[in-house]
Amino acid sequence: MKLIQTKDYDDMSRKAANIISAQVILKPDSVLGLATGSTPIGTYKKLIEWYQKGDLDFSDVRTVNLDEYKGLTKENDQSYYYFMNENLFKHINIDLTKTNIPDGTEEDAKKECDRYNHVIESMGGIDLQLLGLGNNGHIGFNEPCDTFDKLTHCVTLTQSTIDANARFFEKIEDVPRYAYTMGIGQIMSAKKVLVVVNGKGKAEILKKVIEGPVTPFVPASILQFHPDVTIVADEEAASLL
Ligand code: GLP
Repeated sequence: MKLIQTKDYDDMSRKAANIISAQVILKPDSVLGLATGSTPIGTYKKLIEWYQKGDLDFSDVRTVNLDEYKGLTKENDQSYYYFMNENLFKHINIDLTKTNIPDGTEEDAKKECDRYNHVIESMGGIDLQLLGLGNNGHIGFNEPCDTFDKLTHCVTLTQSTIDANARFFEKIEDVPRYAYTMGIGQIMSAKKVLVVVNGKGKAEILKKVIEGPVTPFVPASILQFHPDVTIVADEEAASLL
């Protein structure tokens, strides 16, 4: 695992965006695995800025997102579909037909997981997977549990994730209880993985991810076994390493 320490959130965002830019410049038809959450927002802002300056072209890029809440419509401002449009897609020249996000409105979990597994498979491999880190070590919505899930599945969110994400909803009862997420096996199959982490609140979990034992109870710890992982962490997040 390569660790790049940055002085603050802005520096983290710029460095992460530089890595993604290099990927897109070197391989214009890259398959990018994308993430949501507050951490990558700054990274997306930099990509938009550089696109507007004419440095980046996303017209041949294909994307596949990690996860989506089950039960939220695309118009819901807390859906990851809405997030991706607001924070990235509508600002760049990406072809929306080449973007993929699990369909949170599909009630039949088996049907949606099968469909998404097929989507991921048909892309022929993710070139670069961007990840944030949940407070409990989750990646995508792969919550701590006693096994690593290989493929897309429907998860019951843990109380800690519901509490952490409640800040985005009017009331805690509005936070969905279920989500679709890409599996750990699919994340591990990406050629490169880029993790962005910031803030004191993530320091303890980041230490477990990098230095602790590999265990499904800290899902991101599996990344220790990936051959090409770059973690870009600000000073606060990296303070216990
Ligand atoms: C959510 C997302 C994750 C994200 C995590 C951390 O639960 N499903 O993909 O990494 O939250 O979010 P944040 O970056 O806001 O701390």
